Amino acid sequence: MEPPRFPYRHPYREVVPSTQLGRGRVDNVARPLHYRLPKLIAWTDGRTHSRTISRRPLSSTLVPSFVLRFTTAGESHGPGLVSILEGVPAGLPLSAQDVDRELRRRQQGYGRGRRMQIEQDAIELLSGVRAGQALGSPIAMLIRNRDWRSWQEIMDPAVREGDPAARRRAVTRPRPGHADFVGMLKYDREDARDILERASARETTARVAAGAICRRLLEEIGVSVGSHVVHLGGIDAETPAELPADLNAASDASPVRTLDSAAERQMVELIDRTKRAGDTLGGVCEVVCRGLPLGLGSHVSWDRKLDGRLAGALMSIPAVKGVEIGMGFGAARVPGSAVHDELGADPQRPRAGHVGRGTNRAGGLEGGMTTGEPLVLRVAMKPISTLMKPLGTIDVTTGEPAAATAERSDVTAVPAMGVIAEAMVAFVMADAVVEKFGGDSLNELRRNMDGYLSQVAARTNW
Ligand SMILES: Cc1cc2nc3c(=O)[nH]c(=O)nc-3n(C[C@H](O)[C@H](O)[C@H](O)COP(=O)(O)O)c2cc1C
Repeated sequence: MEPPRFPYRHPYREVVPSTQLGRGRVDNVARPLHYRLPKLIAWTDGRTHSRTISRRPLSSTLVPSFVLRFTTAGESHGPGLVSILEGVPAGLPLSAQDVDRELRRRQQGYGRGRRMQIEQDAIELLSGVRAGQALGSPIAMLIRNRDWRSWQEIMDPAVREGDPAARRRAVTRPRPGHADFVGMLKYDREDARDILERASARETTARVAAGAICRRLLEEIGVSVGSHVVHLGGIDAETPAELPADLNAASDASPVRTLDSAAERQMVELIDRTKRAGDTLGGVCEVVCRGLPLGLGSHVSWDRKLDGRLAGALMSIPAVKGVEIGMGFGAARVPGSAVHDELGADPQRPRAGHVGRGTNRAGGLEGGMTTGEPLVLRVAMKPISTLMKPLGTIDVTTGEPAAATAERSDVTAVPAMGVIAEAMVAFVMADAVVEKFGGDSLNELRRNMDGYLSQVAARTNW
């Protein structure tokens, strides 16, 4: 059978002009942009040697990103946070409200500290958007910390009279489970505040801002990202056989973002009891991404496999200690016949290659690529490490035993972690979409996606 013809040029291939490749050498082979391109260096005595130039943009995290990248800046009690996202296609409809809505979702959740009420995060769009549309240039967002004034004396970037002793609230009793102790030694700081201000999960506000824009891009091509809490501090929530069509509308209606109202009551009681005991709780969120076309990501190289890209992104969230895809660890305990999803023709599912699987134990990924089934990930968070009934530590000024610092903090942040996990998944999946379909403009991306889906349809016309 003759392979179907593309009605378009492959979006992320380019012809390398011979002039870029050194004297007298013609190499106009089309390569994906992220490949390393050989460059021939010609010496005057006629010798040549080659070196490679990487065309892949540097990732701002350890997560390999191929086209999109984002970075964040800001301390927890500094003047504010900054989020810069680059690679968003021009023409994406975008408003500050799209981002603010997600920031508000991150601030919800039973068990959070009082700071969540003070903050009421909102962004100021500094660049990359004009008249409600992305320009294709870096999008910079500023989120001011509302309580900066009360922290100015402590966090002032300028030298103050009497420094460093003048700085109040120095942290010298590092909290077990936090970045305090190792950070102090590694960065040669006397006050663990220099570490905890950045290690604090306040930074994830800037991630949620970037993720909100990625979510907007996914929405434009019919892809949704949602989450719900499936476990909190020893209490399992029942997951309905069929998830609600608007997963977030259902989970956000619960104070602990769970779909199981009986479990919700128990979780709320447990949080209250744990708070009284001065302790903290962890839990597990499930993130679900629906509407993805098959074939995002790739099997060909380790860093292009979506399993790794997603796990890396999720594991980078503070306090996250485990990620499962589909059956996850459960798949290791049962035979293959109880794990793998059998295929059957299904003309109703063009985005899945006209195939239905009946089950989705793989969680929407095979060979590092999307299958067209919902992407299902579970993310486990440890209990918060600041305990109001503090754990034992040492005072680093004396080496003497001490009770760890107990700055006001959350009892649990599992519901909020789900929103942050959604943001990280939105980033990785938007990156995979732009990688596959190209992304100077939204129209171009749509055309390329339609062309690809026609190609898949032509091959699956059984
Ligand atoms: C949404 C969210 C809120 C958090 N809130 C707190 C907190 O109030 N107090 C605290 O000690 N840790 C909190 N953490 C966890 C710490 O940021 C994290 O444990 C710490 O940075 C050390 O990193 P690690 O746990 O990944 O090793 C929070 C984490 C998340 C995701």
